[in-house]
Amino acid sequence: MAHALAKATLGLTLPAHIDPHKISFAAKEINLVEWKGDMLAVGVTEKDMVKDENSKFQNSILKKLDSQHGGLLFKVSKEEDFTGKAGQSAVVRLSGVGPKRVSLFGLGKCTTGSSTSAYRSLGESVASAAKAYQANNAAITLASFEGLTSELKLTAASALATGILLGTYEDNRFKSESKKPTLKSVEFLGFGAGPELEKKLKYTEDVCTGVILGKELVNSPANVLTPGVLAQEAEKIASTYSDVLTAKILDTEQCKELKMGSYLGVAAASANPPKFIHLCYKPPSGSVKKKLALVGKGLTFDSGGYNIKTGPGCSIELMKFDMGGSAAVLGAAKALGQIKPAGVEVHFIVAACENMISGTGMRPGDIVTASNGKTIEVNNTDAEGRLTLADALVYACNLGVDKIVDLATLTGACVVALGPSIAGVFTPSDELAKEVVAASEVAGEKLWRMPMEDSYWEAMKSGVADMVNTGGRQGGSILAALFLKQFVDEKVQWLHIDMAGPVWNDKKKTATGFAISTLVEWVVSNSSS
Ligand code: BES
Ligand code: MN
Ligand code: ZN
Repeated sequence: MAHALAKATLGLTLPAHIDPHKISFAAKEINLVEWKGDMLAVGVTEKDMVKDENSKFQNSILKKLDSQHGGLLFKVSKEEDFTGKAGQSAVVRLSGVGPKRVSLFGLGKCTTGSSTSAYRSLGESVASAAKAYQANNAAITLASFEGLTSELKLTAASALATGILLGTYEDNRFKSESKKPTLKSVEFLGFGAGPELEKKLKYTEDVCTGVILGKELVNSPANVLTPGVLAQEAEKIASTYSDVLTAKILDTEQCKELKMGSYLGVAAASANPPKFIHLCYKPPSGSVKKKLALVGKGLTFDSGGYNIKTGPGCSIELMKFDMGGSAAVLGAAKALGQIKPAGVEVHFIVAACENMISGTGMRPGDIVTASNGKTIEVNNTDAEGRLTLADALVYACNLGVDKIVDLATLTGACVVALGPSIAGVFTPSDELAKEVVAASEVAGEKLWRMPMEDSYWEAMKSGVADMVNTGGRQGGSILAALFLKQFVDEKVQWLHIDMAGPVWNDKKKTATGFAISTLVEWVVSNSSS
């Protein structure tokens, strides 16, 4: 994203332009013992580690490798108490003509299918081992392919590739010094070969470039990533894939003409003007059978406004991540620009702005009017995301789409309810819930459906306007979803994802790229050829 950011920002920070690192994948059906290179990685389940009557390996692949290397594999796995549990690893360093290292990685109890996340973690472990050993190339295989149909082999290879790509990636744009990754090529042994696997791996790479863009957008601090810069990033995506994507950016004046008073109210305190972003994907050929919209909350910073975020645990210093919904939407746009699914039109919509404090800003108690004419008494300026989404949802409905998915780091309450790694799903539509949850399972991301309890709307009544924007602490994420529902056409299927927890990895202090692969899967599941 360095091109669009070529202007020094507040604090004189310029993100470094780091060329995207490329890892090439190949699928081979060669005999394992013939492989030569820096690291041969073997995924091993607990079952694969069961010993025979002579307390030696029973598994034929482990047996073969062990005898090839003079029993070292067995010795090391014993000494390091490697039992195949998830997260374990054991490494044998070798001298000679074959691989420089054979590494066993635990897959746990992992059996047929259902183990996307186990394979992804294995891929991540391979990436970090490659970093540690400065490996240039690696091969990856499983001790046992028992029960893996060719379909499941594709899924496993894809999850491994995802783990390797995302595990190798480090966001070093804001560090004055950084090391380049060494890993350049990975061979998949035993997963099949041919066009189907190649196609799957290409798809996986496309999704991962979208995820990486999403992570970079979220990691960018608010002094670098202003609403204007976010809009430039969106335009850049559209121009890169101009065969299928077009961009439209609305400024303050144009949003005023559309009567987006709710969104503009939030933006009013900021010196950085708001930008309303609308990308449109149209398939390269053929007719459109479904029209979809992805709407993302795009607060490049959320100070809380006059209801400023104070007190312990409010995480004001992390509120650059309050555009995680928009990062998901734009990351998906980039991936779909490469994948080019048929039969679907997709609109990507972000009402981008900052929630700041100044003499021109919204006061608590002000009444704003949204573009569908509904009036809102802003009893808390920190519940700003829903105010921006209100006008974005009205805009999406006016495009005549069949289905809308919105994503937002909307409420702390959702983090309290579901913790840091599960996003909340809110929708009146059982059908759409099923579609999106199915997509998330393929993507290996965690969603949990929450109730839309209409009787709770009581708390959102205002004495002077149509509604207030906050209704107290109880059921906070449900109230937020009920608020959004006020701005969605009843004829349109709509689903809201509250991703306030999963947007950020607290341990690694970095963005996760959450929801991008789910969105891509969902759009592809709505496509047709
Ligand atoms: N961006 C925050 C939500 C948030 C909080 C995300 C913490 C991630 C971590 C949102 O704009 C907000 O401030 N929500 C308020 C709503 C309240 C005023 C009803 C909240 O959750 O406290
Ligand atoms: Mn807020
Ligand atoms: Zn917010």
